Amino acid sequence: NGLPPVYNEPVWDYVKGVDDDNRANIREACQVVRNETVDIPCVINGEEIYSGNTVDQLAPSQHELTIARIHHADEAMIKRAIDGAVEARKEWELMPWEHRAAVFLRAADMLTTEYRFRALATTMIGQGKNVYQAEIDAAAEAADFFRFGVHYANEILHQQPEHHAAHVWNRLTYRALEGFVAAVPPFNFTAIGANLGACPAIMGNSVLWKPTETAALSNFTIFQILREAGIPDGVIQFVPSYGPTFGDTVAADPRLAAINFTGSTKTFDHLTQLVASRVSTYNTYPRLIGECGGKNFHWLHESADVEDTVNGTIRSAFEYQGQKCSACSRVYVPRSLWPEYKAGMIEALKELRVGQPDEFSSFMTAVIDEKSFDKISGYIEHARQSDDYEILFGGECDKSTGYFIQPTMIQTTDPKSRLMQEEIFGPVVTAYVYEDEDWESCLQTVNETSPYGLTGAVYARDRSVIDTSLRVLHHAAGNIYINAKSTGSVVGQQPFGGARRSGTNDKAGAANYLLRFTSIQSAKECL
Ligand code: SER
Repeated sequence: NGLPPVYNEPVWDYVKGVDDDNRANIREACQVVRNETVDIPCVINGEEIYSGNTVDQLAPSQHELTIARIHHADEAMIKRAIDGAVEARKEWELMPWEHRAAVFLRAADMLTTEYRFRALATTMIGQGKNVYQAEIDAAAEAADFFRFGVHYANEILHQQPEHHAAHVWNRLTYRALEGFVAAVPPFNFTAIGANLGACPAIMGNSVLWKPTETAALSNFTIFQILREAGIPDGVIQFVPSYGPTFGDTVAADPRLAAINFTGSTKTFDHLTQLVASRVSTYNTYPRLIGECGGKNFHWLHESADVEDTVNGTIRSAFEYQGQKCSACSRVYVPRSLWPEYKAGMIEALKELRVGQPDEFSSFMTAVIDEKSFDKISGYIEHARQSDDYEILFGGECDKSTGYFIQPTMIQTTDPKSRLMQEEIFGPVVTAYVYEDEDWESCLQTVNETSPYGLTGAVYARDRSVIDTSLRVLHHAAGNIYINAKSTGSVVGQQPFGGARRSGTNDKAGAANYLLRFTSIQSAKECL
């Protein structure tokens, strides 16, 4: 139906001796971010407002550096943003679809060409990603959300009833949600900022995008690209603000049409309660789209390939310092494989380099902020003090210059201990060894141990074991991987999202997500 072909943006690999220009460019872009302190305004109806009520964004790997001063919106400004968004939507949603599509396709192209290094550098220095992790996120996944978002929206908007009685014509018309969408993205993926803050607008909605402080600079970069690509003023309002003020103000407005959230289960519970407590005051039931916590597992059967599993665990648990919602945090290993698995893990862990984001040799950098550092190091300290655990590798934490935590591997004798149940969101993986013949009851333990249901991986070569594990673990992992690590879902390939206390399972990167942002009228006309 006439759209340019959709594809996943290729990830650049910055190989020494091959991509030296790219290597120099990204280093320079990172240096620019280090040397500046950007004033980030609220942008309401196209007007940039420097409120003077600021919060700093620090570089996690060098926390003496303030890379941005974020000007917060207060309640009155958020209300003004809501009024403007509701007004702007009226024209935007009626605009011929091609014009909305073109803005997003153009933004994806700009992001992956002239603004690629800027999007990467703001993500690297601001959120502590190495260049490879930033590529996957701020270039590839962000552009994929825009391009696939257009592709899926195009499919949805052209879906029509296939059956018509004699002398009847049935039709569907798709409009935006009546009101505004409140978007609250997390720090850990710039692409999630792009998807939550911008993609509802593909379906004709207007959005209030509240970036989180620790990712404000990269989110602002994406927002600026959208403006340059032609998003009309008011359709996306950029409103950095104090979380409770934002939550209370949007929830108090009868025009709230959706909350589009990724972050902690606790915050999503709170937002859900705010909406529930006022439910009869809204013009329409607000849609709640949430992607929350996880306690993701790697489960090995005795038929697993140990080398594959070690590689997968290292990448899933420690890439981006274990701060992906999908990161592996608990591992179950049969006794027969444990000596080889443990030795392989420790050997690989010794090789992991922790350093600055723009050093190409850094596998890991610092965790996002002091609060996270304290929480993660608290879990390590708990393991150190308790007889249930043995720290097999790592455990050192140092926040003197940046929030650095060494990759840490722990063994537990209790499969239901705290470190096997609670989300840590850092570079810590805990392993439990089970008896080979108890593999079925171990699967039950995996299923019952955590309240979450986000991601998991099953490593086995035995087909009947794979089959059993998929049945037992259906609700324990909205995204399950078979002989592959639990991270790295790709837009358009593995729709992403979890069930249980991990969220509403609306599947980012698929048509399902965009369907949450349309209001459908079904018409029957007698001919
Ligand atoms: N989609 C990411 C992953 O799969 C997590 O947000 O790793």
